[in-house]
Amino acid sequence: MPQFLGVEWVDVFSSWDRKKSYLGVVWHFFLTYPLGIITMLMPFWLFFTFQWHILIIYSIWYFYDADSPKRGGYQSNWVKKWRVNKWFASYFPITLHKTVDFSPDHNYLIGSHPHGIISMAAWCNFATNGTGILEKFPGIRFNLCTLALNFKMAIRRELLLLSGIIDCSRESIEYVLGDPQKTGRAVVLVIGGAEEALDAHPGYHCLTLKSRKGFVREALLTGAHLVPVYSFGENDVFEQWENPIGSKLRRFQEWSKRIFGISYPIFHGRGFLQLTFGYLPYRKPIDTVIGAPIPVTRVENPSKEQINELHEIYMQKLVELFETHKEKYNVPKETKLILQ
Ligand SMILES: *[C@@H]1O[C@H](CO)[C@@H](O)[C@H](O)[C@H]1NC(C)=O
Repeated sequence: MPQFLGVEWVDVFSSWDRKKSYLGVVWHFFLTYPLGIITMLMPFWLFFTFQWHILIIYSIWYFYDADSPKRGGYQSNWVKKWRVNKWFASYFPITLHKTVDFSPDHNYLIGSHPHGIISMAAWCNFATNGTGILEKFPGIRFNLCTLALNFKMAIRRELLLLSGIIDCSRESIEYVLGDPQKTGRAVVLVIGGAEEALDAHPGYHCLTLKSRKGFVREALLTGAHLVPVYSFGENDVFEQWENPIGSKLRRFQEWSKRIFGISYPIFHGRGFLQLTFGYLPYRKPIDTVIGAPIPVTRVENPSKEQINELHEIYMQKLVELFETHKEKYNVPKETKLILQ
């Protein structure tokens, strides 16, 4: 990489494949940040430029379609197959490793760990065919879950829905998994959520899981088999400001979470043209390992004991998955998965 003024710059003479992978990440960046802002401002722009017809037509659609995120969305394999998704996967690169086949005669509830700063692997593996999920799990339809807020922004919401992303509420999960006659569905939850993002430091393997049991209850209610998934490297693609538990920054972040419901990790990656600072992720490999499904039998009214018991089994299987595969993906032998 060329160095100039103490900064590492991108190599403009890199190969076409490398440039395409860069475009894949720029596309994801655009989807994540600017697109939401653009489409929030668009109604005002249309309003003041007297493009009433567009505004009215889209508004009718928007209200008509408001419930789709809770009704299984409308995944399009054509969108999942877009070339740009493959470019995105090849940037890090992200690789999907399956340990067993999934029978299309069951439904699945997949726990994806860790959250990382913005869950690059969950998006790439489950919302796109970037790593070949359509071929690797024939007969299974995957729906990745996200916060309802993401479905408020025009255009962006349709792109997410077309990628098979749905709302993460109970109602939404039960809609997809609740009918025992309809099998071959898989709902993917990034269990640790924003709280876990605060522990997304390079080399850390620390999950928010002990107190999160809602997903286990949903599995029992619907009879969906539970699947642990771990993405090695997810925490390595951004740097985050040190915020150990008890530090001033962490206490502020926790306070902000309690008061405003959000706590933001202070992070950075590389820039568009230089590799020192910015909001694009670093080129570091992410390896996602899909564990074996844990069989679950449907229970009308799961008791606390049943939930706790299955939650214990899930944590144990997740730790086993981590231990079995960690050394292949450059995690030192002595590193343990921390569950809190
Ligand atoms: C999905 O990705 C895989 C692996 O890259 C590829 O072989 C396959 O053709 C893709 N599937 C579709 C339907 O495009």
